Amino acid sequence: MQSDKADTAQRATPVLATQPTYRPSLAYPQPTEIDRVLFSEEQIREAVLRIGDQISADYAGQKLLLVTVLKGAFIFMADLVRAIVGTVEIDFMTVTSYGAAAESSGVVRIIKDLNVSVKDRHVLIVEDILDSGLTLKYLVKNLTSRGPLSVEVATLLFKEGKQKTDICCRYVGFLCPDEFVVGYGLDYGENYRNLPYIGALTPQTVD
Ligand code: PRP
Repeated sequence: MQSDKADTAQRATPVLATQPTYRPSLAYPQPTEIDRVLFSEEQIREAVLRIGDQISADYAGQKLLLVTVLKGAFIFMADLVRAIVGTVEIDFMTVTSYGAAAESSGVVRIIKDLNVSVKDRHVLIVEDILDSGLTLKYLVKNLTSRGPLSVEVATLLFKEGKQKTDICCRYVGFLCPDEFVVGYGLDYGENYRNLPYIGALTPQTVD
């Protein structure tokens, strides 16, 4: 039975859609829970290209290991890596400090560690948002203890005035108001990560 299934899967001919399935962003329906768009697709694209240029120049001639913090940074990483000219390797970590809550617990847990060693390598942590800073503080300390040549941080969003710890980000996309933001990888209760822009949730949604 198992082998029949495998044979069927191998023989199946893919059916191609006859109509384009890409939805132009302007026509993308805005959920009613979104109060307003904070950063549009175009603004995000420009920020990613700017950071990519900076990274390309700063690490010219050096091999860079990009460490993506899942899940929130997965879209930022996918775009950023294509904006960098140079030799890069990528790896992923999953950490969490929020769970389903709106406030950071302050306790960071590694759920999935890196597959590669960072020893003697230039490491750039790629994050979607720096809020309290506790996640990045923990990550920088943790990765630094593994003997890399350097550890720097690129964050797309930096929430103004929310940091509970000192943390230095070499690359920042946008300063972000103190609101619950979603989209472009960021979630609320695991929803909204697929929005192509970054928006603020209505206060009623977060209550
Ligand atoms: C979010 C975000 C950062 C962290 C930042 O992760 O992706 O990793 O919070 O918050 P902090 O600066 O207050 O520590 P979350 O735990 O929500 O998981 P997710 O990336 O899977 O959404």
